[in-house]
Amino acid sequence: MPTPASGESAETAWNPSRYLAFASERTRPFIDLLSRVNHPNARSIIDYGCGPGNGMPVLRHHWPAAHITGVDSSAQMLDAAREYTRDDAKITYQRADIRTFAPAEQVDLVVSNAALQWLPDHRDLLPEIQRHIAPGGVLAVQIPGNFAAPSHRLLYELAGRSPYAEHIVPGSLLNPTAGVIDYMLDVAGDGWEVEAWETTYQHILQGEDPVFDWISGAAARPVLSALPPQELEQFTAEYKAALREAYPRTRIGTILSFRRIFFIARRASPGH
Ligand SMILES: C[S@@+](CC[C@H](N)C(=O)[O-])C[C@H]1O[C@@H](n2cnc3c(N)ncnc32)[C@H](O)[C@@H]1O
Repeated sequence: MPTPASGESAETAWNPSRYLAFASERTRPFIDLLSRVNHPNARSIIDYGCGPGNGMPVLRHHWPAAHITGVDSSAQMLDAAREYTRDDAKITYQRADIRTFAPAEQVDLVVSNAALQWLPDHRDLLPEIQRHIAPGGVLAVQIPGNFAAPSHRLLYELAGRSPYAEHIVPGSLLNPTAGVIDYMLDVAGDGWEVEAWETTYQHILQGEDPVFDWISGAAARPVLSALPPQELEQFTAEYKAALREAYPRTRIGTILSFRRIFFIARRASPGH
């Protein structure tokens, strides 16, 4: 049996090139998130769930001299990230679980783009993550808020049926994220100022089954990797057909509406 959730096993391994087929669309929310951070003097940064490093140029653009640590549990993703940023000696990586990672000292900025939703208990972890942030520092997070979208609804409906359901590892599917106000309240402790918003991106995708291609690189991964070959083939055909109906091709391409949640918490500096 493969292991559940974010833990890495051969069966659940991430595929960086499949994920990066939509690198520009997947990085866009990170660009929007970081544009609101407003902490030009940050010298130490942690990127939780950095994946294949697609966000590193965005971090480097805002903080040209900072030391950046990318934390991720996937060996495949970290190999891709190390290769991608090999010319930047001030970007280092640690293979670790976000749930247990603790930096040696507090940092100025903690960011996380499209990663915390992989941890079912991520809301409980936020206070611990905030403890890693120095006075004057910032936490900036983006997570998807699209679990009611047809892409996910159809995936979960189909995966819940026979002959697929019996292969799915309990707890391996992503739980829906909470509401934006829940996250605001989670991080709005004493001495923290909060800002949050939601955006629905309208991604224009090209190709035969672009929504399937998108989802198979992320949220559908635990389902697809759990199915034996015959069921996988059958599931893929059924899911693709359902997605084509839910996301018809228009004259400019297939439009994937994707809602995302953003929240930023700023820790007061001493004396403020
Ligand atoms: C959807 S990718 C996001 C990649 C990147 N941050 C981006 O902006 O596109 C999610 C990443 O979170 C990582 N991840 C999931 N659960 C994790 C955990 N418990 N600890 C560390 N990394 C985790 C995965 O390995 C994956 O690389």
